[in-house]
Amino acid sequence: MNILITGVTKGIGYQLVSEFIKRNHKVFGIGRTESKLLELKNKYGEDFIPLNYDITLEENIDKIFKILDKDKISIDILINNAGVGFLGEFYNIDYKNNEKMIDLNIKSLVYITYKFINKSLEENIDKIRGIINISSTAAFQSGGPYFAVYYGTKAFVSSFTNGIAEELGDKNFKVMGVYPGPTKTEFVGMDKEKNFYTMESKKVAKIIVQDFFNKKEVSIPGVINKILVFMGKFIPRKLELKLLKKIQLKKLK
Ligand SMILES: NC(=O)c1ccc[n+]([C@@H]2O[C@H](COP(=O)([O-])OP(=O)(O)OC[C@H]3O[C@@H](n4cnc5c(N)ncnc54)[C@H](OP(=O)(O)O)[C@@H]3O)[C@@H](O)[C@H]2O)c1
Repeated sequence: MNILITGVTKGIGYQLVSEFIKRNHKVFGIGRTESKLLELKNKYGEDFIPLNYDITLEENIDKIFKILDKDKISIDILINNAGVGFLGEFYNIDYKNNEKMIDLNIKSLVYITYKFINKSLEENIDKIRGIINISSTAAFQSGGPYFAVYYGTKAFVSSFTNGIAEELGDKNFKVMGVYPGPTKTEFVGMDKEKNFYTMESKKVAKIIVQDFFNKKEVSIPGVINKILVFMGKFIPRKLELKLLKKIQLKKLK
């Protein structure tokens, strides 16, 4: 199968490339770091096709789909993984960084998904396609003090994913929302986290792929994350926000 993944140059996306290629799939990987895309190309040869594009620019998403159409490449699974986060008091964060979170985590995800669904329907409505959207356990929480825009973007991803999953249910699309908890990547310094429940990106990627092929619609990697999401349902909103404020404040220091 052909898998299109955004944000493959590091973290969870980098590991997803390896997980899919291990299972004999071909990966079309998007990112902006040339050296990392070359590293993946050298490692995987013709199983990996690098796409060096900043997907916050709509015209770059158009270019990617033009290339795929020109070469008659049909994508089987789209994985919206690329995401950014900027910690801090909302009103003190450089406004450009607030915009970057909305542009990448929401706008580019929506546009690439729109292009993918339409391309798939034009090609062959009988073929099964997959959409995997990477949200966060943050989406299950009431809000994110000192991480407010990021949490908002992930709540959007969750709602959007559930909405299109139901719309596409009778159209041969399998849609899965992924809700990772803390994962050791360069994302807001998570690689320095020492919590016992912070997961390795390799493990998270492996679970995502297994869950998708096991036909799950919701994937929460890790037992601790599953328990925390469940317990979160019973914590009063105000108390949850106070706890989250403490956690994020610690990261800021
Ligand atoms: N790490 C965690 O604790 C955690 C927890 C929950 C959810 N998540 C979510 O999981 C996903 C992956 O996160 P991660 O931790 O693996 O992050 P990461 O290590 O920082 O990787 C982010 C990826 O996104 C790509 N990217 C960023 N801006 C881009 C742009 N404008 N155009 C194209 N690609 C872009 C980066 O590549 P370039 O810089 O080369 O473009 C990189 O490959 C994100 O959606 C994140 O919100 C992470």
